[in-house]
Amino acid sequence: MKIPFNVPPQSRHEEQYIHEAIALKKLSGEGAFNKKCSAWFKEYLGCAMAVITPSCTSALEMAMVLADIGPGDEVILPSFTFTSTANVVALYGAIPVFVDIDPRTMNICIENVAAAITPKTKVIVPVYYAGVACEMDKLMALAEEHHLIVIADAAQAIFASYKGKPVGAFGHMAAYSFHETKNIICGEGGALIINDPRFVDRAEIVRDKGTNRQQFLNGQVDKYTWQDKGSSYLQSELAAAFLFSQLEEGLEITARRMARWNQYNQGFAQLENAGKVTRMHVPADCQMNAHIYYILLNSAEERANLWSFLKTKEIQSTTHYVPLHSAPAGLRFGRVSGSMAVTDDLANRLLRMPMFADLTSDQVDFVLKEVQSFFDRK
Ligand SMILES: Cc1ncc(COP(=O)(O)O)c(C=O)c1O
Repeated sequence: MKIPFNVPPQSRHEEQYIHEAIALKKLSGEGAFNKKCSAWFKEYLGCAMAVITPSCTSALEMAMVLADIGPGDEVILPSFTFTSTANVVALYGAIPVFVDIDPRTMNICIENVAAAITPKTKVIVPVYYAGVACEMDKLMALAEEHHLIVIADAAQAIFASYKGKPVGAFGHMAAYSFHETKNIICGEGGALIINDPRFVDRAEIVRDKGTNRQQFLNGQVDKYTWQDKGSSYLQSELAAAFLFSQLEEGLEITARRMARWNQYNQGFAQLENAGKVTRMHVPADCQMNAHIYYILLNSAEERANLWSFLKTKEIQSTTHYVPLHSAPAGLRFGRVSGSMAVTDDLANRLLRMPMFADLTSDQVDFVLKEVQSFFDRK
């Protein structure tokens, strides 16, 4: 049985909405479907503003412009994350400061963040790995104490929540991804959620190549000009139309993933009891979104062996990030605060199982059976 790692989800109205967008003859970023997606996020999160962007990377970049980071500033983030989280910091000449993660969640450890704060620190970027939130209460209290801006990388976390509130509602700003590998998709796409109203006026300008075109469109000025730093952060209507259909069915898509996640979690319980693997942990305060199901093997060698074994069975499991502090650009642009022992260790032992909305119960049983047979062979 051939099992891919990911199959992009489909929803019912993508084609219909794309045709509607074409018929409306307004395909750039201020069209009807961008507005519908934005309104959907405002209703879901109660945020001050939601900008639908071409990617999560561009949403994070726009957030860094709004936070006004530049040479001499430091941004604290985990090393166990995708390149975009740190790359957007380096792009503006600021320094990514990597801190170690909590071994229970693979998320930034708040004590390590506190220890990394210096007079140069301007921003903290928590990453919600596998759609599991960080300890946002503690993090926001720490940020407030030191007057720091929190930009949450919620790339993997659409429909996840923390203490009953959607994760996008935490932080001064938050960025989601709708890349085809995520739970809800539009090929390439993202959203910048602005929770702190002080960033809204500049966001109107920064998102539109640094111009006050929105004021022009609102009839407030008779021509628009270059006002500030900015870039092209608006999403095409075609992608927004696709995204709106996915958002409408998002809870249903998430529920299908959750069923498979729970099946994996029950299936791996015995191997965990036997001391062969450690299952993914979700703290009681976090409602995750089944973006990832991962296990930790007891050694890097065992991870490599299981990964190869599953390949021979045509099951596409996969590892995840190479820690950024040890990557060539991380060494060049960033610095480390404290020990990175947990990151270095766990990044080498983590293996993700196939996970997508159309994954069947039989396919998960097959994966579980083959993982069991890997351990039985020994
Ligand atoms: C934690 C994290 N941040 C940012 C990104 C970048 O998202 P995008 O591809 O939408 O730019 C990803 C993508 O996998 C990610 O996992």
